[in-house]
Amino acid sequence: GFSPSSNASFRSLSSIIFVKVISAKKIQQVIPPPAKYGGRHTVTLIPGDGIGPELFSHVREVFRFSCVPVDFEVVHVNSALETDDDMNNAITAIRRNGVALKGNIETKHTLPASVKSRNNVLRTSLDLYANVMHCQSLPGVQTRHKNIDIMIIRENTEGEYSSLEHESVSGVVESLKIITRNNSLRIAEYAFQLAREKGRRRVTAVHKANIMKLGDGLFLQCCKEVASGYPDITFDSMIVDNTTMQLVSKPQQFDVMVMPNLYGNVVSNVCAGLVGGPGLVPGANYGRDYAVFETATRNTGKSIAGKNIANPTAVLLASCMMLDHLQLNDYATLIRNAVLTTMNETRLHTADIGGQGTTSEVVQSIMRIIQSNGQLTADL
Ligand SMILES: *[C@@H]1O[C@H](CO)[C@@H](O)[C@H](O)[C@H]1NC(C)=O
Ligand SMILES: *[C@@H]1O[C@H](CO)[C@@H](O)[C@H](O)[C@H]1NC(C)=O
Ligand SMILES: *[C@@H]1O[C@H](CO)[C@@H](O)[C@H](O)[C@H]1NC(C)=O
Repeated sequence: GFSPSSNASFRSLSSIIFVKVISAKKIQQVIPPPAKYGGRHTVTLIPGDGIGPELFSHVREVFRFSCVPVDFEVVHVNSALETDDDMNNAITAIRRNGVALKGNIETKHTLPASVKSRNNVLRTSLDLYANVMHCQSLPGVQTRHKNIDIMIIRENTEGEYSSLEHESVSGVVESLKIITRNNSLRIAEYAFQLAREKGRRRVTAVHKANIMKLGDGLFLQCCKEVASGYPDITFDSMIVDNTTMQLVSKPQQFDVMVMPNLYGNVVSNVCAGLVGGPGLVPGANYGRDYAVFETATRNTGKSIAGKNIANPTAVLLASCMMLDHLQLNDYATLIRNAVLTTMNETRLHTADIGGQGTTSEVVQSIMRIIQSNGQLTADL
């Protein structure tokens, strides 16, 4: 197992921040790949571990039922193997198709430190620099806080996830956090562009620049620079510890949030919890050339795998985000509305949100609603 005391890397940790000062680069709009083969799109599907395979089989069922013009190229990644062959195949397939839907691939903490998280390798190899999560209160789901509507833009390729760690002398580990000006500018630009596109009013940068003066300081500085080009959007910043406290006490105060990688991991999990948990919230990873869709909280749900009890909502909503990206917006809307209408039926809730419904009951209900709203025809 994974126990901090048995792991030299955690006995002592000192962190160094390398700051590269690089000039600005405008982000380019992510353009979805054109449809191939008679108006149909091919999308890479990586089922992943835990509940991934069963939930994606439901996605395929709903897509077939709705006559969605998408074909899946399924690529399996075996997380038990130490070789990179599966990952390389998956990355090649995404480069070919441009778009992927993926489950989370388990990272075995027992493997040597040289074996990096496959999920992380995938994001960095494809330069998927922006992780986007939309955390919204859902109809019919009982939660402590109501009316939450937060968009989180998380830097996705650097920061604390550089995988640059070494034990300089026995018992002393250096973990490098990388912040670059180019990347901070493009993530800030992404956040402000998205805010404008979605008619949002405010962007909050989350940081710890009081302690990490150079690294987080540079990130914050880049956000400020980009903000000056968006006078229509209010910009402010908040220290990460206050942010988590504010989130659990008054989450409605937040609109769009932008932050470095690790804070993004923590904050997006807090936000998922606020609206009902990991089974409900989808997430997307965008780069200039590729887009990969998955659940926002990136866990495998191993303990509930194969029991027909997992909540299919997050995975289905992720597949709707993918359909929007492919500009198959009518299909996205059809499926999304059916998912949300089903959520509103308390008797169909799965155990994670306090019900006794099964995964297949939820999926059946979604398909019944799609049918009653009328399937779309395959040609657009
Ligand atoms: C930063 O962006 C500039 C402008 O696009 C580019 O010339 C430079 O090579 C980039 N630096 C790095 C380290 O990627
Ligand atoms: C935390 O955030 C709140 C809300 O923006 C602000 O009023 C307060 O001053 C902040 N507290 C600290 C210690 O920064
Ligand atoms: C959810 O159900 C309630 C009560 O049945 C209804 O008033 C409301 O309009 C529904 N909301 C959505 C978004 O379907």
